[in-house]
Amino acid sequence: MIDPERIPVHIACVMDGNGRWANERNMVRTEGHAAGEQALVDAVDAALELGVSWLTVYAFSTENWRRPISEVRYLMNFNEQLLLRRRDDLNAKGVRIRFVGRRDWRIPRKLLRRIEETEALTAGNDTLTLSIAFNYGSRAELVDAVKALNEAGVEPSEEALSARMYDPEMPDVDLWVRTSGEHRISNFLLWQSAYAEFVFVDAFWPDFGRDEMFAAVTEFQRRTRRFGGL
Ligand code: IPE
Ligand code: IPE
Ligand code: MG
Repeated sequence: MIDPERIPVHIACVMDGNGRWANERNMVRTEGHAAGEQALVDAVDAALELGVSWLTVYAFSTENWRRPISEVRYLMNFNEQLLLRRRDDLNAKGVRIRFVGRRDWRIPRKLLRRIEETEALTAGNDTLTLSIAFNYGSRAELVDAVKALNEAGVEPSEEALSARMYDPEMPDVDLWVRTSGEHRISNFLLWQSAYAEFVFVDAFWPDFGRDEMFAAVTEFQRRTRRFGGL
């Protein structure tokens, strides 16, 4: 079913619906986040199997600070522990892990340290780049890029701005996926997704896995991309 010649280079996923997944099961929201870990592992494995070279996942947005402090704290700790639990295995699979987002004072030092260690540990890998959007917002990224342009006294151009995104090596998004039935962008990769194909999946993130990733790529391959041409 899937054409190996037309695999998207860069897939971006909004991992949404953890809270609703938990609510449906009379669990607390944070249990939904915990259940999302396996979906992330499955999404990475599916990307490896498909030969995707770049996978970006939205883990925490610049707007997610608006949530109750208890949930924010849970997510900080959860992401730190997730890195500790998963990084050796991901490293063994040849996954290069990188983070995009603002590394500001609100992120606990312990987590920042894990992020830096994990990036260093996996820096030499080249099978798949797993880019984790954490304290990420596209508007913040664009503001930061414009500031960098100004500071360098560089004339604005598409190339100059691209070179000042959080990860200048990140390719444009080919396939942009959001789970949980929500049809919105929520400030995720606006610049990089200018010509992405959007696929919206009804499943909540903890129910996402290999089949759903393959289905999204199948849908991607049904689309005709024109990039403004004919
Ligand atoms: C996505 O699930 C995970 C994060 C935003 C961290 P949500 O927590 O947004 O779950 P819903 O959308 O409320 O169900
Ligand atoms: C987007 O989901 C952010 C992440 C998945 C990390 P949200 O649940 O925060 O988005 P909104 O609030 O529904 O737009
Ligand atoms: Mg949500």
